[in-house]
Amino acid sequence: MYAFSKAVNSMHSEDVKQLMKQASGKNLISFAGGMPNNDLFPVEQIDELYNSLSPEIKKLCFQYGPTSGYPPLVKSLESYLEKKGLIIGDNKILITTGSLQAISIITQEFVNEGDIILTENPCFVGALTVFETFGAEIHSIPIDKHGINIEALKSKIESLDRKPKFLYVTPNYHNPAGIIYSPERKKELLETLAGTGIILIEDDAYSDLYFNEEEKSLTKAMKSNGVQDVEIIYTGSFSKILGPGFRLGYMLSSEEIFEKAETVKQALDACTSSFMQILANEFLVQNKLEPYLTFLRSEYLERKDLLQQYLKTYMPEEVTWNEPKGGFYVWLKLPSHIKSTEIFNESVSRGVVFVTGRTFDPASEKDDRLRLSFSNMPKDQIEKGVIILSEAIKKVLQNSKMVLS
Ligand SMILES: Cc1ncc(COP(=O)(O)O)c(C=O)c1O
Repeated sequence: MYAFSKAVNSMHSEDVKQLMKQASGKNLISFAGGMPNNDLFPVEQIDELYNSLSPEIKKLCFQYGPTSGYPPLVKSLESYLEKKGLIIGDNKILITTGSLQAISIITQEFVNEGDIILTENPCFVGALTVFETFGAEIHSIPIDKHGINIEALKSKIESLDRKPKFLYVTPNYHNPAGIIYSPERKKELLETLAGTGIILIEDDAYSDLYFNEEEKSLTKAMKSNGVQDVEIIYTGSFSKILGPGFRLGYMLSSEEIFEKAETVKQALDACTSSFMQILANEFLVQNKLEPYLTFLRSEYLERKDLLQQYLKTYMPEEVTWNEPKGGFYVWLKLPSHIKSTEIFNESVSRGVVFVTGRTFDPASEKDDRLRLSFSNMPKDQIEKGVIILSEAIKKVLQNSKMVLS
């Protein structure tokens, strides 16, 4: 028997392992994967782009690079973020191996075992796994369709005997809830945190994926307000706009936080793949991102519309859901006496997978929801998937009525 460290204990880790398997599972209709469909990737553009590189730059692809990131990519990212309204000023960018690594680095930087982290409920399960492996005490705050519940946040902060190290939120096209914070809620959140010394982690993996150009302004980052009395660490990712296989993310923070983060990253992997950073940089510099995003937005909008249409047609009336304005997710609500885990078992046996609600509850309990991702779904499978899922839900509902009667 080995004596494993506490750092490998995570309630949510098994969920994530299952999720990664199911997302890429063959012979199943999968609403599980929070990733783009393979057919959407810019394979030809990347072929052309690599072939157009000079021999010297191609050689650099194979080499180590600075821990903080490939300098031309850091520069292009600065202008990309500035176009989104973020103020770089004295802040610094650290390129990371996926934005999950940024979350992990920030946690390693600030959290000792037993420290408190505040999260939303529901919360992105990858972040929960990170917080658990660092031994954090997680306290979660419910969200509604406009964002985090401010009253619940205030009373949570007041009730704690120690100051939380940070609050982790996903304000734009939330994973799994699909919502976007209203501008008022973003403002109230900043007002609530002001002067408390609680750092805000603003995870912004999805903001480029709005469906309607007129609603783009809703995605404005809280960090773009240039607020002085809330320390905000902003994280972003290329996973949802170029491909998760790039494993490319970044964090924008004050210089002090950046410097410690750079040390943590050095100990983790020395640097993020030069190959991927060079390709991503060329994608930005050669102005390929915007046209590609336009294509992705219309593809996801189409999938979202089809999913909404079929949900309306086939779902039993006891089930409700949101209509997202961007991103990848629809968050179904079941009658409270039904567990999404029961539906999962029934649905998998019929060939359809999704992610259960309890996966995203920090306490792994609340199970009256389920997450459907439309991003990875071939359009011609959505109707069949919804029919099978709705039949599985009807079966579980019927069984529960028999038990009740
Ligand atoms: C909200 C959120 N943050 C971060 C990530 C991690 O992305 P990356 O692939 O950049 O590590 C994901 C991936 O699903 C996500 O949904």
